[in-house]
Amino acid sequence: MFFDFSEEQLMIQKAAREFAQNELKSGVIERDEHQKFPKDEVKKMGELGFLGMMVDPKYGGGGMDTVSYALAMEEISKIDASCSVIMSVNNSLVCWGLEKYGTEEQKQKYLVPLAKGEIIGAFCLSEPEAGSDATSQRTTAIDKGDYYELNGTKNWITNGNSASVYLVIAQTNIEAGHRGINCLIVEKGMPGFEVGPKENKMGIRASDTHSLMFNNVKVPKSNRIGEDGFGFKFAMKVLSGGRIGIASQALGIASGAYELALQYSKERKAFGKEISKHQAIQFKLADMATRIEAARLLVLRAAWLKDQHLPFDKESAMAKVFASETAMWVSIEAVQIHGGYGYVKEYHVERLMRDAKITQIYEGTSEVQRIVISRQVLS
Ligand code: CAA
Repeated sequence: MFFDFSEEQLMIQKAAREFAQNELKSGVIERDEHQKFPKDEVKKMGELGFLGMMVDPKYGGGGMDTVSYALAMEEISKIDASCSVIMSVNNSLVCWGLEKYGTEEQKQKYLVPLAKGEIIGAFCLSEPEAGSDATSQRTTAIDKGDYYELNGTKNWITNGNSASVYLVIAQTNIEAGHRGINCLIVEKGMPGFEVGPKENKMGIRASDTHSLMFNNVKVPKSNRIGEDGFGFKFAMKVLSGGRIGIASQALGIASGAYELALQYSKERKAFGKEISKHQAIQFKLADMATRIEAARLLVLRAAWLKDQHLPFDKESAMAKVFASETAMWVSIEAVQIHGGYGYVKEYHVERLMRDAKITQIYEGTSEVQRIVISRQVLS
């Protein structure tokens, strides 16, 4: 086994770390407080190549591997998890899905500006009554010859208002169950497509999460991804890769919280010495460091398998469930180590704790990851 990173991977990690420190840190508390979408920051992320990292350079991307992407996601998430979810959805769900399964025409029209970060995309699977039970899609895409007529509502859509391109999963043939589902590329501004109000969230508050309404939207047949009925499998395949992105985000939240707690423990004094000299704190730090390292190994292993074109569904689910539970646990401990200071915004750890929670819910809840893992270990 080989645990070293390449020169290029280390360079990307450093670039992401510097970008996060220099460009994201100063405004992160204010953006969180006011739910302010990081428009300028996302533009810079695009210019630096963080929005289409794994896309082939011939489509405007960075041509990097998944390990590099995971390293960059971790660094950005340490500082600003709202920015990193925008990055994750664009990279792993939208760009990767289009590059892998889109037609050449779809790639030229949509993937190129998405990979360059000139526009951003959204992935629209969840509905008011279809979250974990993703085959129960109520949104319909009725075949009308050379176009589909799209009707329905999507919920909890990351980049809901700021996106220009939406990958929308919808039911074309109800009798065919999951084999009757399609994925359509919908553009902002298509008549009948409306963005609903912004959700007022617990965490990742600067990312814009909206419901979307489709009312007789005419989507050209040429905007369908893959064969008729491929939409559900498309969603599952894309989400398997996406879960590496969210696992990296969770890892970043955990390591960000841990680093702050470690630093604070060396500065804060109680009972005549730094709190890091008390065993109660030392054991917390030891457990935090150990769980983070285990999460990192799972994340990198899933990313590496994907890069080798080997099966990675089970490993990405394991990485996501473990890293997200680590993020939650570590961030709660980080608040505890900070005491009262941990409960106020200036010290960042309360935000990281709020941000951690969503990593156990989106792109498949922890319970869904356990379904995916248990089916594989029992097969
Ligand atoms: N790759 C390819 N095909 C897959 C697959 C995969 N990873 N997983 C399942 N499939 C196929 C199955 O083989 C099956 O096809 P066949 O019948 O032809 O064999 C078909 O898909 C249906 O699979 P299941 O019978 O396993 O379906 P299920 O109803 O039991 O559901 C599930 C399985 C894992 C629970 C799935 O519904 C699921 O992942 N749910 C969670 C959805 C999710 O992650 N939502 C997140 C929303 S997106 C988001 O959060 C983005 C954001 O904005 C941050």
